[in-house]
Amino acid sequence: MSKNRRWMRITPCQNIPLREGRAVKIGHHNIAIFNLGDRFVAINNRCPHRGGPLSDGIVSGSTVVCPLHGWKIDLTSGAVRHPAAVTDCVETFPIRVEDGVIMLEIPVELVGFIQIAESDDEDSEPCGSGKSSCASLVGITG
Ligand code: FES
Repeated sequence: MSKNRRWMRITPCQNIPLREGRAVKIGHHNIAIFNLGDRFVAINNRCPHRGGPLSDGIVSGSTVVCPLHGWKIDLTSGAVRHPAAVTDCVETFPIRVEDGVIMLEIPVELVGFIQIAESDDEDSEPCGSGKSSCASLVGITG
């Protein structure tokens, strides 16, 4: 881990359903976290085409299809897979799971600015409930 970055607790794993994404706002960053079944991945939530919300896209294998115009983004590398001629790449973020909680490595200056978009899902539970250090979480969205 870089000296200027810190691992932060984001939310319990069960808050991100299998093959779905959820959006997390950390300062000016809007990050999409996806549950691929065997692992979680985190990428910039903004499609490189026209800014579509990738967290609302359809997950297919290890890619997500943007909900606006159908560009396909590789969730591991961030590379645009379709259209093939596009060479843009979406920023990816270090992510890991610790004690059933999703952790993101973020710049130290953003610690304290974590927010997961609000949810209609009453079963969702931010990791701020209990002993975690991410008390600013307000919920989770679909
Ligand atoms: S905004 Fe994502 S494909 Fe157009």
